[in-house]
Amino acid sequence: MTQSTLHVAIIMDGNGRWADRRGLPRFAGHRSGERALRGVTKAASRQGIGTLTVYAFSADNWKRPPAEVRALMFLLETHLAKEMDMCRENGVRLSVIGRRDRIPEGARLAIEEAERITRGGSQLHLRLAVDYSSRDALVEASKCLANDGDRSRFAAELDSPDVDLLIRTGGEKRLSDFLLWECAYAELYFTPVLWPDFNEDDLTEALADYSKRQRRFGGLIEKADPRLAAGV
Ligand code: FPP
Repeated sequence: MTQSTLHVAIIMDGNGRWADRRGLPRFAGHRSGERALRGVTKAASRQGIGTLTVYAFSADNWKRPPAEVRALMFLLETHLAKEMDMCRENGVRLSVIGRRDRIPEGARLAIEEAERITRGGSQLHLRLAVDYSSRDALVEASKCLANDGDRSRFAAELDSPDVDLLIRTGGEKRLSDFLLWECAYAELYFTPVLWPDFNEDDLTEALADYSKRQRRFGGLIEKADPRLAAGV
């Protein structure tokens, strides 16, 4: 089966508030967020999304209290270990974008193992952004090029596809240093739903909203994305 080229990116925000509202520690919110990620990954594979990039830990998240950082890294490691069957069953290839050198060894080895095990997945490419900063990625990519101003070579160096639909949960309306180049013509979708509550119905709603957008890329052709019209 040919993999769809539709690229959806998600800023998974609102775990902390979800926990606060229930009088629970923030970690409980992240754990529920991890469950939501599993559900959305399966739904994305079913709904014909080709690439799903999710913001799991930003380079700025190191500023959080050490206990929360440790909890997130632990969650990352355990998530990777326990989701391998789900990935295989749903044709998911998993990879991680962002820096690797600051990630604790256990989580780093789990990333390498998950990438190895899932590399044959051909239905959905799930990219977890971990210790990720779009500005840093842009600076890195620019280092490898002669200064010839060639956009397509720069994009190839960045090795990250253009985003079609960017979803941010939790009610905030900003990009927070996520996929800045790739979102140049992304359709933006903001929802107040907190990430742990975000489910397949919410994803369907976001895709339905996206299917009504007229993407012109600065030109004049007004047409919805044909990949959705064809029921990808
Ligand atoms: C933002 O919510 C969320 C994060 C910083 C972490 C995202 C992590 C997950 C969804 C857990 C699963 C991911 C892994 C590690 C595989 P917030 O804490 O900023 O929420 P708030 O804005 O309500 O405080």
